[in-house]
Amino acid sequence: MNDLSLFQFRKFEYLLNENDLWLPYYGGNKVRKFQKILQDIEDSGKNAIVTTGGIQSNHCRVAALVASRHKLKCVLILHGSEESFQRQKGNALLMRMAGAEIRFAEPEQIGSGMDQAMKDLESDGFDPCYVYGGGHNRAGVEAYIEYMYEMSKSIPESQIPDHIFLASGTGSTQAGILLGAKEAGWDHTAVHGISVGRNKKRGKEGILESISMADQDNLNWDINFYDDYLFGGYGKSNEELLQLIDDVALKTGVILDACYSGKAFFGMIDIVKKFNLEGNIMFWHTGGILNRMA
Ligand SMILES: Cc1ncc(COP(=O)(O)O)c(C=O)c1O
Repeated sequence: MNDLSLFQFRKFEYLLNENDLWLPYYGGNKVRKFQKILQDIEDSGKNAIVTTGGIQSNHCRVAALVASRHKLKCVLILHGSEESFQRQKGNALLMRMAGAEIRFAEPEQIGSGMDQAMKDLESDGFDPCYVYGGGHNRAGVEAYIEYMYEMSKSIPESQIPDHIFLASGTGSTQAGILLGAKEAGWDHTAVHGISVGRNKKRGKEGILESISMADQDNLNWDINFYDDYLFGGYGKSNEELLQLIDDVALKTGVILDACYSGKAFFGMIDIVKKFNLEGNIMFWHTGGILNRMA
């Protein structure tokens, strides 16, 4: 299964590391999304952010750091245990350091917790922006359409990927990449999302919803979304996955995490083998390395 020799690690075969592109805030797809979300916040004159995620959320880490840097008030509605949040490092440490106001909620109370935070901020005189968890909104999708388009300009014809693999959660990153590939004229590029938590049906819905958020027709899209590499669910892993992550780090220097990019890498190896995929295969590293350092 963990047959790394399958990948020659030559040229384009495995990595696009977004951390090179927007290193502030410790990189990853949530930074790229928030760059665009921040633009919307500033354009609309809002001065506070309300958003949500788990205690090791990459999105919440970025929201908190962006808010601190741009002097915006930030309220995070986190699900998970307060005790472990206070104890953990990685994203949790940066959220604490950034001075975001943290409130805890059970998963089923997140919506009401977000609504309450919006009301509280308004009554304190703020003009808050409601940001869906994961940066799952129009700006998040557009960020990826633009990014994909930018990136396509630096790729020679012979290296255009036939397949792109990435970790997929809410679906907005995958949707942006799909739409950007179309805009770039990469008609033969298949985009494969490896689910980090959702089942196939819900995952595909998220991607189609994201396509419509960008005002695009969401019919007739070929959506590749796999829920075979969940390892028990969001945030769960097993020895086999951890072993692959270690092997990749030691043999290539590429650091993956067990919540996102490790699952995507594992899925990529299995799918390439199972379906005998050929041509240029790109692994799109969406970041999340701090999840390894909790
Ligand atoms: C490192 C990393 N990769 C991938 C994803 C999935 O992104 P999306 O929600 O846009 O599908 C996330 C979302 O939390 C993430 O933090």
